[in-house]
Amino acid sequence: MGQPDSSLIEKERNPAKTPVLFQGRGITKTYQMGEVKVQALRAVDLDLYQEEFVVLLGPSGSGKSTLLNILGGLDTPSSGEVFFRHYNLTQGGDRVLTRFRREAIGFIFQFYNLIPSLTAQENVALVTDIASHPMKPAEALEMVGLGDRLDHFPSQLSGGEQQRVAIARAIAKRPEVMFCDEPTGALDLNTGKLVLEVLSKVNQELGTTLVIITHNAGIGAMADRVITMRDGQIYSIEQNARRANAEELTW
Ligand SMILES: Nc1ncnc2c1ncn2[C@@H]1O[C@H](COP(=O)(O)OP(=O)(O)OP(=O)(O)O)[C@@H](O)[C@H]1O
Ligand SMILES: [Mg+2]
Repeated sequence: MGQPDSSLIEKERNPAKTPVLFQGRGITKTYQMGEVKVQALRAVDLDLYQEEFVVLLGPSGSGKSTLLNILGGLDTPSSGEVFFRHYNLTQGGDRVLTRFRREAIGFIFQFYNLIPSLTAQENVALVTDIASHPMKPAEALEMVGLGDRLDHFPSQLSGGEQQRVAIARAIAKRPEVMFCDEPTGALDLNTGKLVLEVLSKVNQELGTTLVIITHNAGIGAMADRVITMRDGQIYSIEQNARRANAEELTW
Protein backbone atom coordinates (compact mmCIF):
# COMPACT_ATOMS: atom_id res chain seq x y z
CA MET A 1 0.00 0.00 0.00
CA GLY A 2 1.20 3.55 -0.71
CA GLN A 3 2.03 5.99 2.01
CA PRO A 4 -0.64 8.55 2.89
CA ASP A 5 0.00 12.00 1.49
CA SER A 6 1.82 13.69 4.36
CA SER A 7 1.55 17.05 2.62
CA LEU A 8 -2.14 16.91 3.57
CA ILE A 9 -1.06 17.67 7.10
CA GLU A 10 0.90 20.73 6.03
CA LYS A 11 -1.86 22.02 3.78
CA GLU A 12 -4.83 21.56 6.04
CA ARG A 13 -4.16 23.85 8.96
CA ASN A 14 -6.75 24.63 11.56
CA PRO A 15 -8.35 28.00 10.78
CA ALA A 16 -8.04 29.18 14.37
CA LYS A 17 -4.26 28.68 14.17
CA THR A 18 -4.24 27.14 17.60
CA PRO A 19 -1.30 24.99 18.70
CA VAL A 20 -1.13 21.36 17.75
CA LEU A 21 -2.40 19.07 20.51
CA PHE A 22 -1.95 15.59 19.04
CA GLN A 23 0.59 14.40 16.53
CA GLY A 24 0.18 10.90 15.18
CA ARG A 25 3.01 9.65 13.01
CA GLY A 26 3.00 6.43 11.01
CA ILE A 27 0.28 4.86 13.12
CA THR A 28 -0.22 1.27 12.07
CA LYS A 29 -2.51 -1.30 13.64
CA THR A 30 -2.51 -4.91 12.56
CA TYR A 31 -4.74 -7.58 14.04
CA GLN A 32 -3.72 -11.18 13.62
CA MET A 33 -6.80 -13.39 13.57
CA GLY A 34 -5.44 -16.92 13.21
CA GLU A 35 -4.25 -17.12 9.60
CA VAL A 36 -5.77 -13.80 8.67
CA LYS A 37 -4.06 -10.45 9.12
CA VAL A 38 -6.29 -7.39 9.34
CA GLN A 39 -4.58 -4.08 8.69
CA ALA A 40 -6.86 -1.68 10.52
CA LEU A 41 -4.54 1.35 10.15
CA ARG A 42 -1.86 1.83 7.52
CA ALA A 43 0.73 4.42 8.53
CA VAL A 44 -1.66 7.21 9.47
CA ASP A 45 -0.20 10.70 10.01
CA LEU A 46 -2.56 13.11 11.71
CA ASP A 47 -2.42 16.36 13.66
CA LEU A 48 -5.24 17.57 15.88
CA TYR A 49 -5.26 21.18 17.06
CA GLN A 50 -6.24 22.71 20.33
CA GLU A 51 -9.89 23.79 20.50
CA GLU A 52 -10.85 22.49 17.06
CA PHE A 53 -13.94 20.47 16.21
CA VAL A 54 -13.27 17.54 13.89
CA VAL A 55 -15.78 15.16 12.36
CA LEU A 56 -14.32 11.80 11.38
CA LEU A 57 -16.16 10.00 8.57
CA GLY A 58 -15.55 6.82 6.61
CA PRO A 59 -17.16 3.50 5.75
CA SER A 60 -17.57 0.75 8.31
CA GLY A 61 -14.25 -0.96 8.92
CA SER A 62 -12.16 1.97 7.64
CA GLY A 63 -10.37 2.34 10.98
CA LYS A 64 -12.11 5.28 12.66
CA SER A 65 -12.63 3.69 16.08
CA THR A 66 -9.20 2.11 16.00
CA LEU A 67 -7.60 5.49 15.32
CA LEU A 68 -9.52 7.30 18.04
CA ASN A 69 -8.88 4.54 20.57
CA ILE A 70 -5.16 4.74 19.88
CA LEU A 71 -5.06 8.54 20.11
CA GLY A 72 -7.06 8.33 23.32
CA GLY A 73 -4.77 5.77 24.90
CA LEU A 74 -7.38 2.99 25.04
CA ASP A 75 -5.38 0.94 22.56
CA THR A 76 -1.75 0.83 21.40
CA PRO A 77 -0.49 0.94 17.81
CA SER A 78 1.49 -1.91 16.24
CA SER A 79 3.96 0.73 15.09
CA GLY A 80 4.19 4.51 14.90
CA GLU A 81 4.02 7.20 17.53
CA VAL A 82 1.46 9.41 19.21
CA PHE A 83 2.41 12.66 20.88
CA PHE A 84 0.04 14.58 23.14
CA ARG A 85 1.68 17.99 23.64
CA HIS A 86 5.25 16.99 24.43
CA TYR A 87 4.31 13.62 25.90
CA ASN A 88 5.12 10.59 23.82
CA LEU A 89 2.14 8.35 24.59
CA THR A 90 3.59 5.36 22.77
CA GLN A 91 6.92 5.42 24.64
CA GLY A 92 5.77 6.96 27.91
CA GLY A 93 4.74 3.77 29.67
CA ASP A 94 1.69 3.02 31.79
CA ARG A 95 2.03 5.94 34.19
CA VAL A 96 1.96 8.58 31.46
CA LEU A 97 -0.88 6.81 29.70
CA THR A 98 -3.01 6.40 32.81
CA ARG A 99 -2.57 10.04 33.78
CA PHE A 100 -3.32 11.16 30.25
CA ARG A 101 -6.53 9.09 30.14
CA ARG A 102 -7.63 10.20 33.56
CA GLU A 103 -6.97 13.90 33.17
CA ALA A 104 -6.88 14.90 29.54
CA ILE A 105 -9.48 12.77 27.77
CA GLY A 106 -13.23 12.38 27.89
CA PHE A 107 -14.80 9.55 25.92
CA ILE A 108 -18.39 9.36 24.73
CA PHE A 109 -19.74 6.21 23.10
CA GLN A 110 -22.96 5.25 21.36
CA PHE A 111 -24.28 3.65 24.53
CA TYR A 112 -24.12 5.76 27.60
CA ASN A 113 -22.66 3.36 30.16
CA LEU A 114 -24.37 5.02 33.09
CA ILE A 115 -24.74 3.13 36.35
CA PRO A 116 -28.48 2.36 36.67
CA SER A 117 -28.59 2.46 40.47
CA LEU A 118 -27.03 5.94 40.68
CA THR A 119 -28.74 9.28 39.98
CA ALA A 120 -27.53 11.63 37.26
CA GLN A 121 -25.62 13.62 39.84
CA GLU A 122 -24.06 10.52 41.39
CA ASN A 123 -23.03 9.18 37.98
CA VAL A 124 -21.15 12.42 37.32
CA ALA A 125 -19.67 12.45 40.83
CA LEU A 126 -17.98 9.10 40.17
CA VAL A 127 -15.61 10.94 37.86
CA THR A 128 -15.26 14.20 39.76
CA ASP A 129 -14.21 12.27 42.86
CA ILE A 130 -10.97 11.21 41.16
CA ALA A 131 -10.22 14.34 39.06
CA SER A 132 -7.86 17.09 40.14
CA HIS A 133 -9.82 20.28 39.27
CA PRO A 134 -13.34 19.04 38.61
CA MET A 135 -16.53 21.00 38.05
CA LYS A 136 -19.29 20.38 40.53
CA PRO A 137 -21.57 17.62 39.18
CA ALA A 138 -24.53 20.02 39.29
CA GLU A 139 -22.59 22.58 37.23
CA ALA A 140 -21.73 20.00 34.57
CA LEU A 141 -25.35 18.82 34.42
CA GLU A 142 -26.49 22.43 34.18
CA MET A 143 -24.21 22.92 31.20
CA VAL A 144 -25.85 20.06 29.29
CA GLY A 145 -29.32 21.36 30.11
CA LEU A 146 -30.15 18.87 32.86
CA GLY A 147 -29.89 21.13 35.90
CA ASP A 148 -33.41 20.15 36.90
CA ARG A 149 -32.84 16.38 36.61
CA LEU A 150 -30.01 15.92 39.12
CA ASP A 151 -31.76 13.31 41.23
CA HIS A 152 -33.23 11.27 38.40
CA PHE A 153 -32.05 7.75 37.69
CA PRO A 154 -31.05 6.71 34.15
CA SER A 155 -34.31 4.76 33.77
CA GLN A 156 -36.21 8.02 34.34
CA LEU A 157 -34.36 9.76 31.51
CA SER A 158 -34.72 9.50 27.72
CA GLY A 159 -31.86 8.21 25.56
CA GLY A 160 -30.82 11.74 24.62
CA GLU A 161 -30.93 12.83 28.25
CA GLN A 162 -28.84 9.84 29.28
CA GLN A 163 -26.30 10.73 26.61
CA ARG A 164 -26.21 14.28 28.01
CA VAL A 165 -25.51 12.85 31.48
CA ALA A 166 -22.64 10.90 29.90
CA ILE A 167 -21.39 14.16 28.37
CA ALA A 168 -21.68 15.92 31.75
CA ARG A 169 -19.70 13.09 33.29
CA ALA A 170 -16.99 13.50 30.63
CA ILE A 171 -16.73 17.30 30.84
CA ALA A 172 -16.83 17.49 34.64
CA LYS A 173 -13.15 16.61 34.88
CA ARG A 174 -12.41 19.46 32.42
CA PRO A 175 -10.65 17.31 29.82
CA GLU A 176 -8.70 19.00 27.06
CA VAL A 177 -10.15 16.60 24.52
CA MET A 178 -13.44 14.80 23.97
CA PHE A 179 -13.48 11.77 21.70
CA CYS A 180 -16.99 10.72 20.72
CA ASP A 181 -17.57 7.46 18.85
CA GLU A 182 -21.01 7.65 17.21
CA PRO A 183 -22.54 9.68 20.04
CA THR A 184 -25.86 10.05 18.20
CA GLY A 185 -25.91 6.53 16.77
CA ALA A 186 -28.75 5.37 19.00
CA LEU A 187 -30.78 8.59 18.88
CA ASP A 188 -33.49 9.96 16.61
CA LEU A 189 -32.86 13.04 14.50
CA ASN A 190 -34.03 15.75 16.89
CA THR A 191 -32.54 14.17 19.98
CA GLY A 192 -29.29 13.68 18.08
CA LYS A 193 -29.24 17.37 17.17
CA LEU A 194 -29.68 18.34 20.80
CA VAL A 195 -26.72 16.17 21.80
CA LEU A 196 -24.58 17.64 19.00
CA GLU A 197 -25.54 21.14 20.11
CA VAL A 198 -24.36 20.34 23.63
CA LEU A 199 -21.06 18.94 22.34
CA SER A 200 -20.50 21.98 20.14
CA LYS A 201 -21.25 24.26 23.08
CA VAL A 202 -18.67 22.43 25.22
CA ASN A 203 -16.13 22.88 22.41
CA GLN A 204 -16.86 26.61 22.14
CA GLU A 205 -17.35 27.56 25.77
CA LEU A 206 -14.72 25.35 27.41
CA GLY A 207 -12.33 25.22 24.43
CA THR A 208 -12.36 21.42 24.55
CA THR A 209 -10.94 19.84 21.41
CA LEU A 210 -13.76 17.72 19.99
CA VAL A 211 -13.62 14.74 17.65
CA ILE A 212 -16.86 13.05 16.63
CA ILE A 213 -16.98 9.81 14.66
CA THR A 214 -20.19 9.46 12.72
CA HIS A 215 -21.72 7.71 9.73
CA ASN A 216 -23.77 10.79 9.09
CA ALA A 217 -21.89 12.99 6.64
CA GLY A 218 -24.34 15.86 7.26
CA ILE A 219 -22.86 16.36 10.73
CA GLY A 220 -19.61 17.37 9.04
CA ALA A 221 -21.11 20.83 8.42
CA MET A 222 -20.84 21.59 12.14
CA ALA A 223 -17.09 20.97 12.31
CA ASP A 224 -13.97 23.02 11.59
CA ARG A 225 -12.47 20.08 9.70
CA VAL A 226 -13.91 16.93 8.22
CA ILE A 227 -11.51 14.01 8.00
CA THR A 228 -12.52 11.02 5.91
CA MET A 229 -10.89 7.61 6.26
CA ARG A 230 -10.86 4.80 3.80
CA ASP A 231 -9.22 1.42 4.13
CA GLY A 232 -7.08 2.29 7.14
CA GLN A 233 -5.81 5.57 5.74
CA ILE A 234 -6.78 9.21 5.70
CA TYR A 235 -8.47 9.77 2.39
CA SER A 236 -9.30 13.47 2.62
CA ILE A 237 -9.24 16.46 4.95
CA GLU A 238 -11.62 19.30 4.29
CA GLN A 239 -11.93 22.60 6.05
CA ASN A 240 -15.27 24.35 6.51
CA ALA A 241 -15.38 28.10 5.92
CA ARG A 242 -18.06 28.33 8.61
CA ARG A 243 -19.57 26.00 11.16
CA ALA A 244 -23.26 25.19 10.88
CA ASN A 245 -25.55 25.02 13.91
CA ALA A 246 -27.21 21.72 14.70
CA GLU A 247 -30.63 23.14 13.66
CA GLU A 248 -29.31 23.76 10.14
CA LEU A 249 -28.37 20.12 9.63
CA THR A 250 -30.34 17.98 7.23
CA TRP A 251 -29.98 14.25 6.84
N1 LIG B 1 -10.12 -6.35 18.17
C1 LIG B 1 -10.07 -6.56 16.85
N2 LIG B 1 -9.62 -7.73 16.36
C2 LIG B 1 -9.54 -7.95 15.03
N3 LIG B 1 -9.88 -7.04 14.10
C3 LIG B 1 -10.32 -5.86 14.52
C4 LIG B 1 -10.45 -5.54 15.92
N4 LIG B 1 -10.91 -4.28 16.04
C5 LIG B 1 -11.08 -3.83 14.79
N5 LIG B 1 -10.73 -4.77 13.87
C6 LIG B 1 -10.75 -4.62 12.40
O1 LIG B 1 -10.07 -3.44 12.07
C7 LIG B 1 -10.73 -2.76 11.00
C8 LIG B 1 -11.07 -1.34 11.46
O2 LIG B 1 -12.05 -1.42 12.48
P1 LIG B 1 -12.70 -0.14 13.17
O3 LIG B 1 -13.54 -0.63 14.27
O4 LIG B 1 -11.62 0.83 13.50
O5 LIG B 1 -13.56 0.47 11.99
P2 LIG B 1 -14.61 1.68 12.02
O6 LIG B 1 -14.23 2.60 10.92
O7 LIG B 1 -14.72 2.23 13.39
O8 LIG B 1 -15.95 0.92 11.60
P3 LIG B 1 -17.48 1.17 12.10
O9 LIG B 1 -17.94 2.37 11.35
O10 LIG B 1 -18.18 -0.07 11.67
O11 LIG B 1 -17.47 1.35 13.58
C9 LIG B 1 -11.92 -3.62 10.65
O12 LIG B 1 -11.59 -4.41 9.57
C10 LIG B 1 -12.15 -4.45 11.88
O13 LIG B 1 -12.72 -5.68 11.56
MG1 LIG C 1 -16.25 2.26 14.83
